[in-house]
Amino acid sequence: MSTQKHYTGLIERYRDRLPVNETTRIISLNEGNTPLIQLQNIPRLIGKSVDIYVKFEGLNPTGSFKDRGMTMAVTKAVEAGSQAIICASTGNTSAAAAAYAARAGIKAFVLIPDGKIALGKLAQTLMYGAEIIQINGNFDKGMALVKEVAEHAPVTIVNSINPFRIDGQKTAAFEIVDELGFAPDYHCLPVGNAGNITAYWKGYKEYSTDSATHKAVTAKRPIMCGYQAAGAAPFVAGHMIDEPETIATAIRIGHPQSWDFAWAAQKESGGWFDKFTDEQILAAHKMLSQYEGIFCEPASATSLAGALHDIGSGKIPEGSKIVCTLTGNGLKDPDTAISQCAAAHPVTIEASLDAVKRVILDCL
Ligand code: F0G
Repeated sequence: MSTQKHYTGLIERYRDRLPVNETTRIISLNEGNTPLIQLQNIPRLIGKSVDIYVKFEGLNPTGSFKDRGMTMAVTKAVEAGSQAIICASTGNTSAAAAAYAARAGIKAFVLIPDGKIALGKLAQTLMYGAEIIQINGNFDKGMALVKEVAEHAPVTIVNSINPFRIDGQKTAAFEIVDELGFAPDYHCLPVGNAGNITAYWKGYKEYSTDSATHKAVTAKRPIMCGYQAAGAAPFVAGHMIDEPETIATAIRIGHPQSWDFAWAAQKESGGWFDKFTDEQILAAHKMLSQYEGIFCEPASATSLAGALHDIGSGKIPEGSKIVCTLTGNGLKDPDTAISQCAAAHPVTIEASLDAVKRVILDCL
């Protein structure tokens, strides 16, 4: 029999750096430990000598990075005796909240923008049994409502304004450093509500010191690059935006909650924010699938769209080691994927050897 210890989730793995003790009941679905995949074909295609790694967070239990934050937030909510959690969401947070609430045996209430949720996210959230409240308004409106409701009802907010969410999500930075043996030169992320860029920066900073002695173990931290959709880019505008719009519905956010923290990450790391059009985001989305076999959701590809742009312009120099976080799984948004491939619709033929052979020979 194998004596290898089974992977039990990120709280167990990074217990010494997370706010839990021996008596805490851990609510986990074995999240984290996601693959860091080095791109092989895209660097060759763009003719640049760079090492690009993608941290594929779409392989978490509910298909997004939100599981990292949710294991921690729900663990702490249960520890505090909470019977219900609530969040506003563009879809992934609601799916994660619903799953971890089901695991814990508590109730989840989720506020989602009417009609602006990718199909897979809605399907999951329904199956996990959350109370779904569709609102006539966008994510920012939902977030404002959730903050108000939590003052009047016995519910714990599990959006990333809950600091335990950030603590869970910072472990992605730990995993990257553990796997590479060092922090990358650049870390590229899609930015919406700005919790994740906050979490990664916190993680990189904390991991550069020893957890017991608090002595520095390395001085190296990455430059943080936060990329937004052009129609939803408050960090590029330098102010909040009231009517955000983008095909990347996960990041259709105009009033990010972690505003100050994200600016701190940018300033302290020497990084930058930039924005990319839906066309640029979708091009990166398709490129990842077709040249690397990696299917992420549209918002996730914003990190690669930004990295490729900045490598092309020389802002990210050759020789750099770059990590792009792919925040969610492509299966979350089948509609956008299929509409991206409209020209390559499946051929329908007679069910015969000859007909199939003809198709193959025509293609080769
Ligand atoms: N990528 C995906 C796939 C997301 O779902 C989100 C946020 C982000 C990127 C941006 O991360 O908000 O930490 O800057 N989704 C939230 C949600 C808002 O409700 O699922 P952020």
